Amino acid sequence: MKIAVTGKGGVGKTTLAGGLARLLADEGMNVIAVDADPDANLASSLGISAEEMADVAPIADMKELVAERTGSKPGTFGTYFKMNPKVDDLPEALSKVHDGVRLLVMGTVKEGGGGCVCPESVMLKALLQHLLFARDDVVILDMEAGLEHLGRGTAGAVDAMIVVIEPGMRSVQTANTIRKLASDLKVQRIYVVLNKVQSPEEEAIVKDKLDGLPYLGSITYNHNIRRSDLEGTSPYDADPAFVDEVRAIKEALFQELERDS
Ligand SMILES: Nc1ncnc2c1ncn2[C@@H]1O[C@H](COP(=O)(O)OP(=O)(O)OP(=O)(O)O)[C@@H](O)[C@H]1O
Ligand SMILES: [Mg+2]
Repeated sequence: MKIAVTGKGGVGKTTLAGGLARLLADEGMNVIAVDADPDANLASSLGISAEEMADVAPIADMKELVAERTGSKPGTFGTYFKMNPKVDDLPEALSKVHDGVRLLVMGTVKEGGGGCVCPESVMLKALLQHLLFARDDVVILDMEAGLEHLGRGTAGAVDAMIVVIEPGMRSVQTANTIRKLASDLKVQRIYVVLNKVQSPEEEAIVKDKLDGLPYLGSITYNHNIRRSDLEGTSPYDADPAFVDEVRAIKEALFQELERDS
């Protein structure tokens, strides 16, 4: 199962992605959590400390590895390089394993305007394709903020795209954007999770406005989640109520996927 967690900035993508990854690992699945946000912070949401991450570089920054795998020379431009670099050993070689979750930090490629094809972006793309198509593991992608980053390749390859929204009128706009995006990208399975809910009324109002977008559940606004973020620890370890809500979301997702298959 391949799941992408998306949504606008600060809505709780990383909180949910980390929680789902930890839960599925606890339930005995092989989980690869992929930090696909240039501003990478999925590690702390999984419970991996900054000290433990000190020796982990984003894959996009591994100049020598990129050069070795693509046959390019670091620092040169416009030379030939392989479009199909070997990547199948990288999930094991480059990941940090913690509480049963394998974390891969992708990093970011600063492409010059016009969408240049450079060795780093070819490597990342190849690795993502490998994770999505060639691995049996559950893959959870924590995406960069904004719905526009979803490439066709990723969107089409995931089994489920979870869009996290927050209560408010803007969430309704977001829901409409999602619907349009889903049809543009030909994503069949797009689901909504409502985060930072403060009352049942609030949830009811937003649900009512979703107009048929499949809804998986909600996460309550929770001071323990905030505090764990401040402390750089995992909300999964901080509050069983959060774990219960993530479990309910996971169960709703599995039911939806089963029904659709
Ligand atoms: N249910 C919640 N209750 C209270 N605080 C929350 C909740 N969910 C997330 N937060 C807090 O909101 C902030 C943003 O959460 P998070 O980093 O998960 O969002 P994000 O969508 O990944 O953000 P970004 O777009 O920057 O990647 C964090 O400080 C987090 O602790
Ligand atoms: Mg995030």
